[in-house]
Amino acid sequence: MALKDAIPADMRDTVLITGCNRGLGLEFVRQYAQAGWRVFATCRNPEQAIALNRIASASQKHVTVHRLDIANRKQIKEVVSAIGDTPIDLLLNNAGIDGQRNAQFGATDEARWLEAFRVNAVAQMKMMEALIDSVARSKKRMIVCLGSKMASMSENNSGSSYVYRSTKAALNAIVRSAAIDLRPKDIAVVVMHPGWVKTDMGGVNAQIDAPDSVRRLRELIDKVTLADSGKFLNLDGTLITW
Ligand SMILES: NC(=O)c1ccc[n+]([C@@H]2O[C@H](COP(=O)([O-])OP(=O)(O)OC[C@H]3O[C@@H](n4cnc5c(N)ncnc54)[C@H](OP(=O)(O)O)[C@@H]3O)[C@@H](O)[C@H]2O)c1
Repeated sequence: MALKDAIPADMRDTVLITGCNRGLGLEFVRQYAQAGWRVFATCRNPEQAIALNRIASASQKHVTVHRLDIANRKQIKEVVSAIGDTPIDLLLNNAGIDGQRNAQFGATDEARWLEAFRVNAVAQMKMMEALIDSVARSKKRMIVCLGSKMASMSENNSGSSYVYRSTKAALNAIVRSAAIDLRPKDIAVVVMHPGWVKTDMGGVNAQIDAPDSVRRLRELIDKVTLADSGKFLNLDGTLITW
């Protein structure tokens, strides 16, 4: 038995991650499981999540897989009920979509734009609202949302990508407000840019691979304190300007 398997269940830090079927979400599950965390891994279609199910099967039940489309309120309730009174140290709002890749001026698609708002902004908030009691009863009390440098107004020097930029900017606004509103509960809420990562979303030309991005994000998450709440953090820990 590996040393991490011997950690008693009630001594494990606990993370709930959205969008664990592939990309950064899957890699977060792999690394947090490896580090001995209790992982609630959520994804839209557990039956098809082959790599994720493999990690869960090898985990001595420390990784469990739960069906969750974050835009589906009923499924959010079911996940909350599956968690019960388990404290959630870290809510990792990872799931996201590009909506309409490189949406250009004159070619934006309203339906896809609204769907991207639902997933990248509204659903992120609904996850926080639903999980707040579980996070509040934990030791670490942390909410991390995966955002993007593309949402920065001041760093936008190339235009286009209206759908992704605006929906991730909405997420930033949500994180700022939640950081203020949840401070009395000692809950830190931050948004992090994972770098330009080789996933289905980032594409093959991206700069770093998912294991590297997640390793660095986890190191950064380890350092976050309540004093950082409301920050827009780059992978290297520096602030990204709004
Ligand atoms: N890759 C980059 O360079 C980059 C840069 C900046 C920010 N980010 C952010 O990092 C996060 C992860 O990105 P990624 O590169 O891993 O993307 P990805 O490879 O496209 O994976 C996205 C994941 O989100 C899930 N998802 C999408 N809509 C969902 C919904 N409604 N409910 C639940 N899950 C949903 C997908 O599930 P299915 O498998 O079922 O489709 C998939 O598992 C995103 O928020 C993204 O915006 C990525």
